[in-house]
Amino acid sequence: MDGNGRWAKKRFLTKSAGHRAGAQTLRRLANAAEKLGIKILTVYAFSTENWARPQDEVNTLMNLIHEYIQQYIDDTKKNNMRICVIGDISKLTHELQTKIRNLEDMTRQKHGLRVNIALNYGGRDDIIRACKKISANVSNDRLSVNDIDETMFAAYLDTGGMPDPDLLIRTSGEMRISNFLLWQTAYTEFYFCDKLWPDFNINDLNEAIAQYQGRNRRYGARNDIEKRDTNG
Ligand code: IPE
Ligand code: MG
Repeated sequence: MDGNGRWAKKRFLTKSAGHRAGAQTLRRLANAAEKLGIKILTVYAFSTENWARPQDEVNTLMNLIHEYIQQYIDDTKKNNMRICVIGDISKLTHELQTKIRNLEDMTRQKHGLRVNIALNYGGRDDIIRACKKISANVSNDRLSVNDIDETMFAAYLDTGGMPDPDLLIRTSGEMRISNFLLWQTAYTEFYFCDKLWPDFNINDLNEAIAQYQGRNRRYGARNDIEKRDTNG
């Protein structure tokens, strides 16, 4: 969800106002995604690298995350969304961790859109934490080295049990992955959009999906037409 800072700057507003606008965009987009029948929406809210921002901006972001987690707790009474957090939340305050666990527990049985909020998330960190859990199980003899394959490894990641993302949208004109779901995006379709995140709207989401629908996903294999060609 990139571009909150630039959005605010363009309007002579504080960074905090930009992040607040970004958080509102997420609420709107999650509702739109649910109506479209999307099953899982994963948003990158705070990366393992975002701690390197100025302390007052980190504080602003943490306060906003607090506020919105509370907002989502109130919203669950009215909607059918399941909210989960991915990332290493042990680095967050105990109060925030408790709120997150509450929200996850309260929405565990919901069958609507699943929203994964990535907090203190890093793709490399996700992989390292999975390796540590697997290694611990190997040294306890609960697992054998030969059991390790792609399917079981994926199950140890924060996204364990979920399919890999079909589509990744990056806003604000940046064209990089910035340590997001590194393992999980091996065959994800990417969509880059110049709009700043607070300006990203439902039409933009529809446009991204329409483009995605026109893509030809081969997963490294050949599609049927090419197969016929090569077979003569
Ligand atoms: C993304 O907006 C929000 C977070 C990383 C939490 P930015 O703050 O990165 O916005 P720009 O890149 O400065 O415009
Ligand atoms: Mg940015």
